[in-house]
Amino acid sequence: MKLNLISGSLIVAAATVAAHPARTNQSEYEYIVVGSGAGGGTVASELARKGHSVFLIEAGGDQGLHPEQQVPGLSFASWGVYEGNSWNFYINHYRNQTQARRDSKYVYRLTDGSTYYGLDPPPGAEPLGTLYPRGATLGGSTQVNALNWAKPSDNDWDWIANYTSDESWGAEAMEKYSIALENCLYCAANDTDRRRGFIYSNRNNVTYVTGRPNVAQFMSDAALEVENITIRDNNHLTELLQRDIQSKEYSYTEGIYQLVISMNETRRRSGSRNHIIDTINAGFPLTISPFSLATRVLFNKDGDDVVAHGVEYLKGEALYAGDSRYDPAQSGELKTVTATREVIVAGGAINTPQILKLSGIGPREELENLGIEVIVDSPTVGKYLQDHPEGVVRMNSSVPLGGDPMDNCRPDLGTEDPCLIQWNTTGTGPYGEGAAPLLMRYRTSTSENEDPDVWIWGFGGLDVRGFYPGAATPPPAPRTYSFSMLRTQTLGDEAIGAVTLRSANPRDVPNVDFDWFPGEAGDKELTALVETSDLLYRIFDRATEPVAPMTRVQPAEGVQDIRQNMMDESYGHHAGCSCRMGTGGVQTHCIDPQLRVNGVKGLRVVDASAFPRILSAFPQYPIYMLGLKAADMISAAASNSSRSY
Ligand SMILES: Cc1cc2nc3c(=O)[nH]c(=O)nc-3n(C[C@H](O)[C@H](O)[C@H](O)COP(=O)(O)OP(=O)(O)OC[C@H]3O[C@@H](n4cnc5c(N)ncnc54)[C@H](O)[C@@H]3O)c2cc1C
Ligand SMILES: *[C@@H]1O[C@H](CO)[C@@H](O)[C@H](O)[C@H]1NC(C)=O
Ligand SMILES: *[C@@H]1O[C@H](CO)[C@@H](O)[C@H](O)[C@H]1NC(C)=O
Ligand SMILES: *[C@@H]1O[C@H](CO)[C@@H](O)[C@H](O)[C@H]1NC(C)=O
Ligand SMILES: *[C@@H]1O[C@H](CO)[C@@H](O)[C@H](O)[C@H]1NC(C)=O
Ligand SMILES: *[C@@H]1O[C@H](CO)[C@@H](O)[C@H](O)[C@H]1NC(C)=O
Ligand SMILES: *[C@@H]1O[C@H](CO)[C@@H](O)[C@H](O)[C@H]1NC(C)=O
Ligand SMILES: *[C@@H]1O[C@H](CO)[C@@H](O)[C@H](O)[C@H]1NC(C)=O
Ligand SMILES: *[C@@H]1O[C@H](CO)[C@@H](O)[C@H](O)[C@H]1NC(C)=O
Ligand SMILES: *[C@@H]1O[C@H](CO)[C@@H](O)[C@H](O)[C@H]1NC(C)=O
Ligand SMILES: *[C@@H]1O[C@H](CO)[C@@H](O)[C@H](O)[C@H]1NC(C)=O
Repeated sequence: MKLNLISGSLIVAAATVAAHPARTNQSEYEYIVVGSGAGGGTVASELARKGHSVFLIEAGGDQGLHPEQQVPGLSFASWGVYEGNSWNFYINHYRNQTQARRDSKYVYRLTDGSTYYGLDPPPGAEPLGTLYPRGATLGGSTQVNALNWAKPSDNDWDWIANYTSDESWGAEAMEKYSIALENCLYCAANDTDRRRGFIYSNRNNVTYVTGRPNVAQFMSDAALEVENITIRDNNHLTELLQRDIQSKEYSYTEGIYQLVISMNETRRRSGSRNHIIDTINAGFPLTISPFSLATRVLFNKDGDDVVAHGVEYLKGEALYAGDSRYDPAQSGELKTVTATREVIVAGGAINTPQILKLSGIGPREELENLGIEVIVDSPTVGKYLQDHPEGVVRMNSSVPLGGDPMDNCRPDLGTEDPCLIQWNTTGTGPYGEGAAPLLMRYRTSTSENEDPDVWIWGFGGLDVRGFYPGAATPPPAPRTYSFSMLRTQTLGDEAIGAVTLRSANPRDVPNVDFDWFPGEAGDKELTALVETSDLLYRIFDRATEPVAPMTRVQPAEGVQDIRQNMMDESYGHHAGCSCRMGTGGVQTHCIDPQLRVNGVKGLRVVDASAFPRILSAFPQYPIYMLGLKAADMISAAASNSSRSY
């Protein structure tokens, strides 16, 4: 095994990337990783911790110590309010534009350059699609997400093991990665298997639910509808809410719970960014190249083999068209870097297929039409794109719900904000609270096994309905309950979504078409959303004064066809599966179960794209686990040969 002897690679030890760029001009590393999110950040850190030299290419910079990324209570703002954190894509939920534009969040560009979203665009408006943000910063989407933390069901991993005929993806074999990942701060100190990892998990202060009578009453009504349990008093409600949804006992049980959130003791976001910085600070040979947009993978011929040997990238800030600061005139500096072992692409479910296609790996016709030289005709790259379509139910109460802990905050991150001061100095208060305080698990008639197949989460007093321009600063909605719901048992081979190139320009965004709810499998997803809406309506029907009578906001009063409304108004942000693993080779799968890109050597994909079906309600947990497994597989392969393929 080749140890970390490349000169200069051990010198790197920077507290923050922007302030201290890597003090080396080295241009050769064992591994190059593109993208520092849940997948890329993890595999890069773990390979470095195993002694390998790693060069991590990230389009964005590091803002991990800034409150805009650290404050859990403002996570909704992290992707959309501050520049340099994320990229905005405009996607189509359906290729059928009549259906796609039934989304009230569908965005148009107006002739004066501004945007409009809604159902009545003025004449001449150019249709863009529905807003779909992705993190573009050190740590990727884990630095802008809502911190919700959910271990997948064993059945989900076993499904992949069955699909790939590879037991190493089964729940039993994957458990060691969960142990290596999780550091559960609310678990007992002697629960050692859950207190070892590098991502901290924590829970909201339950008094923010139980201390609000109208909200506590809703959760009590929910306990009765979902579990047939009559809540006796606040202590009883507290006890039920604090059952650990991540434990074996409760993760398979319908009921009311608290969401778990990826944040640490002082209630700062815990994500892939901290793991990267900790890895560098501990002296492992990881070098970050921030503000670097990978444009393509470079290949060599080795006999009959085509071997990935490096990456070409543009150095510069905001070079991608998804960036709100994008300026086509700023073209950056073209650079290359060489990998002596492997290149790992981890740009996320939209960018990974784009990078592969720009590198010549993709459907022949699509590449040739754009003048891209075909390295491998790989028909499924970008295909089978999936998501969790999240249905929405919003209800208005007759009175403000009251007791909102955010009421006294001034969420502008200014020095006058009492909530910011409290969070900063004591690690407590409303800013230390994660996104969705109200959680239910529910099993619909469509569940393919014994698992509750649906997650329902929501808010009392915050109006959440998906992504649209301005959604990062939701207006106060003191009377509104808003709930999102999704089915975890997503599509597999039935998925027909795709990421396709718009142009051969690596700075351009691709087309993203989800084509939700296809065929019989899609029909089940829709049925699950409709049944879950019915559950929520049964809970709201129990409301008494002063909140009653309740009025329907979404689906609106009088909407008869709930199913159509779910098709129109659902939103998503868990894209995956666009370079899915499986057996059968290049005709049917983008990568094999070792995550190696079919048709070439020395190239892997380690991010949400790799799954043949999205795992869990909240995908970050399993993507981190995938990154840990990938580091083991890649390092084991390295010990066999001077090059690992
Ligand atoms: C607003 C929002 C809320 C979410 N909420 C939750 C939640 O509560 N819980 C949960 O589990 N999941 C949530 N998710 C989803 C979760 O964060 C993602 O599924 C996960 O981070 C994906 O991991 P990844 O490694 O595939 O990609 P990402 O984490 O997206 O990382 C990809 C990285 O690659 C970089 N990159 C892309 N292309 C290039 C290129 N060409 N050159 C250089 N760098 C490149 C990007 O800048 C980015 O940093 C949310 C996502 C969003 C956007
Ligand atoms: C790296 O290269 C830059 C310019 O290319 C130069 O200014 C710098 O001194 C070099 N650093 C080292 C450590 O060689
Ligand atoms: C497109 O969507 C509309 C609205 O849902 C539907 O009425 C129409 O049948 C669809 N067209 C096709 C070709 O499926
Ligand atoms: C396992 O895979 C086979 C073949 O794809 C499929 O027929 C079977 O239903 C799967 N079993 C489970 C439990 O998913
Ligand atoms: C942890 O300690 C508690 C009580 O102190 C005990 O009941 C429990 O069994 C212990 N758990 C483990 C995993 O040792
Ligand atoms: C939870 O919030 C209450 C106020 O609602 C406060 O008294 C208590 O100290 C908080 N607990 C923790 C652990 O932060
Ligand atoms: C609900 O619980 C009550 C008693 O607590 C019981 O009588 C009833 O049968 C239960 N209903 C269902 C559907 O389980
Ligand atoms: C919590 O996270 C912050 C910000 O990343 C970090 O500075 C701090 O050291 C962490 N605290 C602990 C106890 O890990
Ligand atoms: C948090 O407190 C530290 C130490 O007092 C201070 O330097 C920093 O500016 C504060 N940050 C915010 C966002 O208030
Ligand atoms: C819900 O209530 C708010 C007042 O809090 C009001 O502004 C809004 O119009 C109501 N929405 C509906 C659909 O009734
Ligand atoms: C290493 O090589 C041996 C013998 O060729 C092979 O059986 C094994 O699968 C290889 N291991 C990896 C991780 O590639």
